Amino acid sequence: MAKGHSLATVVHLQHDRLVQMSVMDNLEFIRNIPSESVKLIVTSPPYNIGKKYEKRSSLERYLSEQAKTIAECVRVLHPEGSICWQVGNHISESGEVVPLDMVLYPLFKQHGLFLRNRIVWHFEHGLHCKKRFSGRHETLLWFTKGDAYTFNLDPVRIPAKYPNKKHFKGPKLGQLSGNPLGKNPGDLWVIPNVKANHVEKTSHPCQFPVELVERLVLSMTNEGDSVLDPYMGVGSSIIAAIKHDRMGLGCDVIQEYVDIAWDRVRLLREGKLLTRPMNKPVYDPNLPRGGH
Ligand SMILES: C[S@@+](CC[C@H](N)C(=O)[O-])C[C@H]1O[C@@H](n2cnc3c(N)ncnc32)[C@H](O)[C@@H]1O
Repeated sequence: MAKGHSLATVVHLQHDRLVQMSVMDNLEFIRNIPSESVKLIVTSPPYNIGKKYEKRSSLERYLSEQAKTIAECVRVLHPEGSICWQVGNHISESGEVVPLDMVLYPLFKQHGLFLRNRIVWHFEHGLHCKKRFSGRHETLLWFTKGDAYTFNLDPVRIPAKYPNKKHFKGPKLGQLSGNPLGKNPGDLWVIPNVKANHVEKTSHPCQFPVELVERLVLSMTNEGDSVLDPYMGVGSSIIAAIKHDRMGLGCDVIQEYVDIAWDRVRLLREGKLLTRPMNKPVYDPNLPRGGH
C-alpha cells in the first residue's frame, strides 16, 4: 500500500485512455501488443533470489525464461526504440555473486540490439553483508534496435557543477563554455532507492524510484509514445510515463501490485500522488533532516 493513503475501492480495471495494466504473465500480455509499436521498454525483472514474488530456480532455467520475454519485447520494440533492463546480482545458494547484466547481455545481442550505455545506479540503503562488501549499486543495460534512435538530452540535463565557467582563450574568450540548460547526467546515477522512509514506498519490496524512470522516459520517448514494463510491480514505470503524457502498458502476476498500480494512477490524476522530484539532491544540508 502506498504510504499516506489506503486502497479504499478496488476496481479491477484493465485499461483506460492512456493506461493498460493487467494481472497477467508477461508473455501472454505482450502477445497482444502489435509489433514495433512500443518506444521504450523499461523493467526490472526478478533476480532469482527468492523474493516473495518469485520462486528460486536454476540460473539456466531463469535465463531461458528471460530469453522468452526478451524475444517478445524485441518484437514489439519500435525501430527507433529502446530497451532498458535494470538488474542487480543473483546470489547462488552457495553465496556466489552472479552479475545479472553480464549473463543477460548475450540474450540481447543475439537479437542484434546495440548497447548504448551500461548505467550504474548507486544508492545508500540495503542489506548489511557480513562476508562481502554490502551491495550499493545495480546496473541498467540500455539497448536500441538501430542507429536512428530517439534520444532527447535537453529534458534530462542536470545543473552544471561550475555554471559560470567561461572560455579562457580563442574566439569565444569570456563567453560561457557550458550548456545553459545544464550538463549530461552521465552514466552513474545517484538516486535513493525506495526504502521505508521514501515518499513512494508501497508494500512492494523493491519498486523503482519514479525519478529514475522519468529520466529514461523523457530522454528516450516523445509525447504520445508508448512505454511498456513487462514486470511492472506497483506500476512505477507507468506513473513515470503518464506523468509526461506518454501511454503506459504493464502487467504483473500479483493482483495486489496491480491494484496498487491503478490506485497510484488515480492519485496521480487527482494531483495527490507523492513522488520524489527529479534532480532533488540526495542530501540537502539546508533542509530539515537533509530534505528527507
Ligand atoms: C523487481 S519487481 C519490479 C518492481 C517494479 N519495477 C516496481 O516499480 O514496482 C519484479 C516484478 O515482476 C513480477 N513478475 C514475476 N514474474 C512475472 C511474469 N512472468 N509476468 C509478469 N510479472 C512477473 C513480480 O510479481 C514482481 O512484482
